[in-house]
Amino acid sequence: MNRKLLLHSVVLAGSLCAVGTATAESRISGEMMANACAPCHGTYGHLENEYMPPLAGMPEQDFIEGMKAFREGTRPATIMDRVARAFSDEEIEAMAEFYAQQTDGGDNE
Ligand code: HEC
Repeated sequence: MNRKLLLHSVVLAGSLCAVGTATAESRISGEMMANACAPCHGTYGHLENEYMPPLAGMPEQDFIEGMKAFREGTRPATIMDRVARAFSDEEIEAMAEFYAQQTDGGDNE
C-alpha cells in the first residue's frame, strides 16, 4: 500500500467513526421523551382542556424557560415541578424542538 492510500483510509475511518457517534447520541429523540407527557398532554401535545395547557406549537423558548422554571421550583405547579426534575437541559431542548414542530393541528391529539 502506498503512503497516500494509507493516509486516505485513516481519514476515511476517522470520519466513519464520527458518524457512528452522532447517531448513538441522537437515539433518544425529543419525540421519544414526549411519550412520557402523552397521557396528560396528548400524543402530539394537542390535548387541550380547562386543566391541561397544549404543548403543540409552543415556541421553543417558552417551552424551555417554562420547563426550567418548573424544575427550579420558581413556577407554581401542581405536577410539572416533579415531571420537569427528570430532564436535563439537553432533553428539555430536544422536546422543545419536537413540540414546536407539531403545528398541523392533528387528529391524534
Ligand atoms: C400527570 C400529568 C402530566 C404529565 C405526565 C406531564 N404534564 Fe406538563 N402539565 C401538566 C399540568 C397539570 C400543567 C399545568 C401546570 C401544573 O399544574 O403543574 C402542565 C403544564 C406544562 C407546561 C406549561 C405549558 C404552558 O402553556 O405554559 C409545559 C411546558 C409542560 N407541562 C410540559 C410537559 C412535558 C414536556 C412533559 C413530559 C416530559 C409533561 N408536561 C408531562 C400535567 C402533566
